[in-house]
Amino acid sequence: VNNIQIAIDGPAGAGKSTIAKIAAEKLGFTYIDTGAMYRALTLKALKENIDLSSEAQVTALLEESSIELKPSQQGQLVFLDGVDVSQEIRSNEVTNNVSKVAAHAAMRAIMVELQYAMAAKGGVIMDGRDIGTAVLPKAELKIFMSATVDERARRRYEDNKQRGINSSYEALKEEIALRDKMDSEREASPLVQATDAVFVDTTELNIEQAADEILKLASERM
Ligand code: C5P
Repeated sequence: VNNIQIAIDGPAGAGKSTIAKIAAEKLGFTYIDTGAMYRALTLKALKENIDLSSEAQVTALLEESSIELKPSQQGQLVFLDGVDVSQEIRSNEVTNNVSKVAAHAAMRAIMVELQYAMAAKGGVIMDGRDIGTAVLPKAELKIFMSATVDERARRRYEDNKQRGINSSYEALKEEIALRDKMDSEREASPLVQATDAVFVDTTELNIEQAADEILKLASERM
C-alpha cells in the first residue's frame, strides 16, 4: 500500500502544518489542514454575529456554508462560500475564538464527515486535533506531535517577526496555553494522543529533522 493515510495531531504551534507540508511534498501526498475549516467557520460566525456558545446556531451556520480546501503551491487554499479566505482565517480574532466554535459536537460531526471524504482515497497527510482519534481511526500512521509551550511560543514569535508583526512573547504563550487547555478539556473529541499514535517531540528538532522523522515512519508503513 502506497496511498496510506497519515494523521498528525497535537497542540497549537508544535510545527504540524510546516512539517506535514514538507513531508507531503516529498511523498507526493495531498496535505490537508483541518484547522483551516474550523477557522473558516469561526470567521463567518464572527462576521454574522452568531452566538459562538450556541451549538444550534454554530451547527446551522455550517450546514448553510460551503468550506472547501484546495491544494496549492504554498500548501493549501481555503474557500468560504466560494471566496478565498486563506489569509483572513489567520487573524488574531479568529485564532482567539476558534476553540469556542470547535467545541460543539453536532457541528464537529459534519466536519468529520467532510474530512473523512477528503481522505478516503489515501495518499494524504491530514493534520488537526482529532484526526487519529475521530476522523481517520484506521490511518496507517498516526503521529502526536508536540513541543514545550515555551518553544512553541518562541516559534510563533519568530514567525510573526518574519512577517513583520510585533508580538509579545508572554501574550503568545498565554494564548497558546489557553487554546490547548480548551481543546484538551472539551467534551467533544478533545485533543488527546490516540493509543496507537507515535509521539514526536519537536522541541529539539529543526524542521528538516522532524520531516525526516515522519518520512521514516511513513516508509515503514508503505
Ligand atoms: O490547527 P489550527 O491551530 O489552525 O486549529 C485551529 C483550531 O481549530 C484549534 O485550536 C482547535 O480548536 C480547532 N481544531 C479542532 N479539530 C481539528 C483541527 C482544529 O478542533 N481537527
